[in-house]
Formats: sequence, structure tokens, C-alpha cells
Amino acid sequence: MTEERTGKSSRIPGLYRLSLDERIDRVSEFVSLTPEEIYQLKREALPLGTADQMIENVIGVFGLALGVAANFRINGRDYLIPMAVEESSVVAAASHLAKAVREHGELTAESDDPIMIGQIQVCGAPDPEEARRKILEAKARILHLANEQDPVLREVGGGARDVEVRVLDTPRGTMVVVHLLVDVRDAMGANAVNTMAENLAPFVEGLTGGKVRLRILSNLADRRLVRVHLRVAPQAFDEHNYRGQDVVEGILNAYALAAADPYRAATHNKGVMNGIDPVVIATGNDWRAIEAGAHAYAAREGQYKPLTTWDCDEDGNLIGRLELPMAVGLIGGATKVHPMARLSLKILGVKTASELAEVAATVGLVQNLAAMRSLVTEGIQKGHMVLHARNVAVSAGAVGETIGHVANQMIREGRIRFDRAKQILRHVLKNAERRLHGEEGKTSDE
Ligand code: MEV
Repeated sequence: MTEERTGKSSRIPGLYRLSLDERIDRVSEFVSLTPEEIYQLKREALPLGTADQMIENVIGVFGLALGVAANFRINGRDYLIPMAVEESSVVAAASHLAKAVREHGELTAESDDPIMIGQIQVCGAPDPEEARRKILEAKARILHLANEQDPVLREVGGGARDVEVRVLDTPRGTMVVVHLLVDVRDAMGANAVNTMAENLAPFVEGLTGGKVRLRILSNLADRRLVRVHLRVAPQAFDEHNYRGQDVVEGILNAYALAAADPYRAATHNKGVMNGIDPVVIATGNDWRAIEAGAHAYAAREGQYKPLTTWDCDEDGNLIGRLELPMAVGLIGGATKVHPMARLSLKILGVKTASELAEVAATVGLVQNLAAMRSLVTEGIQKGHMVLHARNVAVSAGAVGETIGHVANQMIREGRIRFDRAKQILRHVLKNAERRLHGEEGKTSDE
């Protein structure tokens, strides 16, 4: 357990009220950061030289805020969860609901072995059914050839495990599609699987008499599913104006709509991905792969569906479940190259890619619950307002203390607009100038 691992709890009351330095201190108390890592957090997320090695035609570095979601306990372990995201309220909502579940329920998660699928497309095989038979007969040889490509993966307990064949009717004729199932252990797996698929092509062509075209992994990683279970008592949602039981009813209705309507399901799932993507990004993983897999999985029955399900158990507890493919790794890609990804993984303290998958998916389920709770109570705008107002103030030119003055004034007035921010800012600055010259003035033009 993380509490055993670090002796610390991820329950950090009032984390959001602390200064940035104090927050970093709290994280450091949880995982013991080195001075270099603290410098990394405060100053240099991604050195330009490292960025220049990562992609082509580099001209700069694009920053994204990195927060930590507190209060998560998953499978009895405490986690501080790094989240890189541009949207306000996401980290706060995750932390808030994680606290509610921690106090009134529990979060558990489990995952399949990290099996990825490599697809080899064979076009023009003279007898597709015969091709299928020959490929299956040659399974042992195919697995041997595939595993020759990656002795390191074999050494760590992974490797090609199985071969499946599908014969598909397409607009350009019948095609044979070979699926190579590879246990990629702690990698996301794209490199290992693609290399194996590419190297198998000549052998597969020889067997089938067809022409191999595509040799690439599938992002519908449905052999690498993660499943999260959440139980929470209705009183977790008791709040001044709301009765927990009624909030639960609202959540069940929200889910029912998502289950019946793809327009709502898309937004519902966006709320799930609000939790998952920031963890995937913070840990240097490929969020497009996760998005592609999630939405393909959501549509696997022919209609686009919510990724989560919600109902009640016999004791009246709200029960949430999430199942989706989760191809994330601890090695390869940017996970080891990007210093912030390394640091995020250290803060998380996950030991395997499967554990990372379980944590990321859990944040997705909790985030979904947080969104529905807001939607069926005060609505999501209230929570967004403070940060939105600050963002508008900054875009109007406010800096330092004036950001708070401008934002608070707009919130008081209920008018959060760029033009209003500009007006207020002008007055704030004029008053500051007057004060400098010994005169006092109003803070608003009203
Ligand atoms: C906003 O980023 C996400 C939500 O729209 C999700 C939802 O509607 O469930 C609030």
C-alpha cells in the first residue's frame, strides 16, 4: 500500500488554498522530491534542447499547467495524481469527489494483461479461407519469428502470445487480417508491435499468396482493458441545499439519458476523458491513442454508448463502473525523455503500466461522477466562474494582484466579459496611480 510505501496519506486538506511553494512542499513530503525536481517544477518543465530531440522543426515549448489531484485511495493505496490540463475545475472536481468517495465508499480497479493487437492486412489472397487455415497452422512459427524481433521484451516476461485471423468483406474485396497478440509488459507497445508486424510481412505473404499492405497496431486495445468500480453512499452528496438521495436520483437520470442518446453519451464520455487525458499527458503517454481506443470501445455494439455505467446496490449505495482499453506505458515514448513525465511518474509511484492504467481510469470514473453531480445540482458554471474570471482578467492585461481585483469585481457584478475586464482594469490602474499621487478613487466605473 502507498501508505505503507510512503507512510503518507494523499488526503491533503486545503491543498488549493496553499501557495504554489507550499503545495510543492506537500508533494515533496509525500514522495520526497530532490532539489533538481523542485527546480524542474518551478522553472524548467521541458528544456528546449530536449524538446528539439523529441519532434521535428521545433521552435519552442508549449506549457500546460500541472496540478495534483489529492485524496485518491485506489485498491487501498493512496495516490497524489499529477494532471496536465488546460481546463479549470477538472483537478478540483476530481479531488473533491475522491474525498467524498474516500469518506463514504471505496474505489477499486483491476486490469487485463498488457496485450496489444498488431494488424497485418493481406489483400488479394487467392483463397482467403485457405489463407486463414495456413496462417493458423503456422502459428508457432509466426510467434517465433515475432519474438526474435524483441529479445528484451521476452526477457522481461512479455512477447508475442497468440495469432488470430479475420476474413473481412470490404469495398475493395475480401481481405485477410492477421492479429498478432503481444504482451508488451510496461510499454505502451506501439514500437514493439509495429516492428513485429512489419517483419512478419514477407512470411505472411508467402503463406497466403496475397500482398501485405498495412502492418500496424490497433488502438482498439480491447485485450488490454481496465475496469474500475466505485461505491459511494448517498450521504456523500448531502450538501446545504441538496439531499444526497435526490442527487443520486439525478445522477441515475443523467446516466439513463447518456445510455439512450449518443448526443449526451459523447459529452458524458468527454467528462470521463477529462479525468483520464490529463494523467495520460502528465505521464508522457499518447493521449490520442487512449482517446481513439476509448471512443471505438464506446461504439463497439454499433451504437455510441457511455463508457461508464451507474446504478444502486441493495443498500442504496451509488455504484459506478468504467471499462475501457488503456494502452499506457512506463517506458518508451516521452515517458522517460520528458523530465516532467518522469517526475509525474515518481509522484504517482506506480510500479507497472497496469497500475498506471488503473489509476488513470479511476480518475476518469471519479471525474464523470463529479461532472454529473455538478450538472444535477448547481450546474457546472459556478465552479468554472472564479478561474474563468481570472483567465478573462489576464487576457485583458491584468497582472499580479490586479488579476484578483478585476476577477472579483466581475464575479460580484455577474458580468464576466473581456470588455468589462478592460474597463475595470483601467479603473484599478487609474486608482493605483492616484494613490501614488495621494488621491483616492472608486474601484469601478459604476
Ligand atoms: C466539461 O468539460 C465536461 C462536462 O460537460 C461533462 C458532462 O457533461 O458530463 C461537464
